[in-house]
Amino acid sequence: MSFIYFSFPGNENYTKLLSEQNKGIEGQAEIRRFPDGESFVRVLSDVKDKKAIIVCSLHHPDDKIVTLYLFASTLRSLGAKSVFLLAPYLPYLRQDKIFNPGEALSSAQFASLLSGFIDGILTIDPHLHRISALNQIYTIPAQTLSAAPLISAWIKNNISQPFIIGPDSESEQWAATVAAGAGAPFTVLQKTRHGDRDVEISVPRIKEYKDHTPVLVDDIISTGKTMAGTIAHLKQLGQRAPVCIGIHALFGGDSYNELLSAGAERVVSCDTVPHISNQIRTVELFAACESMLKTKTDEQNQVKN
Ligand code: R5P
Repeated sequence: MSFIYFSFPGNENYTKLLSEQNKGIEGQAEIRRFPDGESFVRVLSDVKDKKAIIVCSLHHPDDKIVTLYLFASTLRSLGAKSVFLLAPYLPYLRQDKIFNPGEALSSAQFASLLSGFIDGILTIDPHLHRISALNQIYTIPAQTLSAAPLISAWIKNNISQPFIIGPDSESEQWAATVAAGAGAPFTVLQKTRHGDRDVEISVPRIKEYKDHTPVLVDDIISTGKTMAGTIAHLKQLGQRAPVCIGIHALFGGDSYNELLSAGAERVVSCDTVPHISNQIRTVELFAACESMLKTKTDEQNQVKN
């Protein structure tokens, strides 16, 4: 059974690297907008009895989800055996709780939406906080890969005497693993979020690492306020300007430049979301992706055997 890789707009480079690396077929398709903003999709390759992999990082998900649905349905109507989503960034995981009455539980709702038209998902470092695994909300097989070893290697190659800092308890899972891989000390700070753009960070006790280079590690950089708040405290403590590393470079508005202005020595990210800060290539993580992509039926058959 052969796999065929389709790129969504903006993922062409990633898809090319991926299909070259995995010696897969690159599918041809036309995906664009009609003048009124509706999506036009046309599959140009033969997909009959093939397993299709749609490569689409889902930052700005609201702009993509309808097109993704149309594309997946079209593949299916053309005879594709199964339709997988390879999303280096998987969104809608931060609202994993109803904080105030009447709010949408968007993590579960988005998972239910995708599970309705995709057979299986593969992603990198989803933001799992109150949910410990994607299968708690996704009803299709959803596999996750970790960029931590790649980040550790980047730190080892680029920073002398690093001291890893996770800006909040949620970042501990990434900061601790990255620090272990880089053979560096680490600490995790306490964050209180008062609003979307209002974040308070506890004063870190890191005096003993004054001679080290602080390296802030988090999964997502969005407004940059979490990192900027941490930088402000490091400054107060007379620490060196830190290197900021995020896995997923969401960077809304001018937040990248604001983070540099806040005092980051440099801002580095993985290439799960295309951005000027991308320095850590993640496509290698998907080297064995074809054996990892399973449908529900594949999983059930595996259990039977
Ligand atoms: C959530 O807790 C995440 O791990 C990040 O800390 C958060 O998403 C960063 O968001 P922002 O850049 O908007 O502060």
